[in-house]
Amino acid sequence: MSSFPVTRLRRFRRTSGLRGLVRETRLSLDDFVMPLFVGPEAFANDELPALGRHSVESVVEEADELQRLGVQTVILFGIPAEKDAEGSGAYDDDGVVQHALRALRERRPGMTLLTDVCLCEYTSHGHCGVLHGDDVDNDETLKLLARTAVSHVEAGADAVAPSDMMDGRVAAIRAALDDEGHESTPILAYSAKYASAFYGPFREAAESAPAFGDRRGYQMDPANVREALRECELDLEEGADMLMVKPALPCLDVIRAVREEFDAPLAAYNVSGEYAMLKAAAAKGWMDERQAAVESLTAIKRAGADVVVSYWTKELARWL
Ligand code: PBG
Repeated sequence: MSSFPVTRLRRFRRTSGLRGLVRETRLSLDDFVMPLFVGPEAFANDELPALGRHSVESVVEEADELQRLGVQTVILFGIPAEKDAEGSGAYDDDGVVQHALRALRERRPGMTLLTDVCLCEYTSHGHCGVLHGDDVDNDETLKLLARTAVSHVEAGADAVAPSDMMDGRVAAIRAALDDEGHESTPILAYSAKYASAFYGPFREAAESAPAFGDRRGYQMDPANVREALRECELDLEEGADMLMVKPALPCLDVIRAVREEFDAPLAAYNVSGEYAMLKAAAAKGWMDERQAAVESLTAIKRAGADVVVSYWTKELARWL
């Protein structure tokens, strides 16, 4: 390779056309998933619009607008009218997500519908499974997660995404789906999900903060990357069809490591805290939101994610 002055890397930076020609990473709406929260009543969130809540009726309108903007895929989260110790609203065929799925399936047939499978939005204690004393009982929780996944698929979900971090949940969900004749429905596993401080705004929006303790007994320690690879390997062995790393921006190295180690499709979750942090800085006039958001999403793709779940998906559709 020749060096300066023969080589001048600025030559291809000179015009927007030349820069576009050599751009290595591009954002396409096809790769983005918009999270939507559904509850008994709709209300707007003025500061963090994507964390507002929809009713079954308004989620259909929102999906209509998203489709017109070119967004093809959503992931649904439910906030039930009432919570209990077993999170029964999660696997109730009359639950809020199940109602939303049936309405969307019928009225927005072209849309791809993913669901988050977890109990934390549905339990009175806010933990991601059923309790045995103060501990989340792994194996008891698996049965309820499997019931939730089957109930989502029967209501119209195209794929289910378990986010609870119980050991063995992918195998349990796969077996339950297959038993009910849903062997063609994929599982998107939140494989490397860290116990992160960046989920704060989501927990407020979904009213799912744990009533005591924290999630460090089941979500991963942010200090670990080899363990993330083990989680991914186990999930693939159990039948996961797509892997996910979460959060995204604090874990770009994990996304890269998973991309290099496995050939399965890989998603990354650009979580609520990543979104809120930038929204807050933009509101203060400290950063340009659009530029900083596009740079963040590009970095997540560059690190190796095929799919990005992001609260900016709707705004991105207008920006692209
Ligand atoms: C449910 C779940 C959470 C998120 C996605 N699924 C919250 C949590 O684990 O506490 C976080 C998403 C976000 O912060 O945007 N377990």
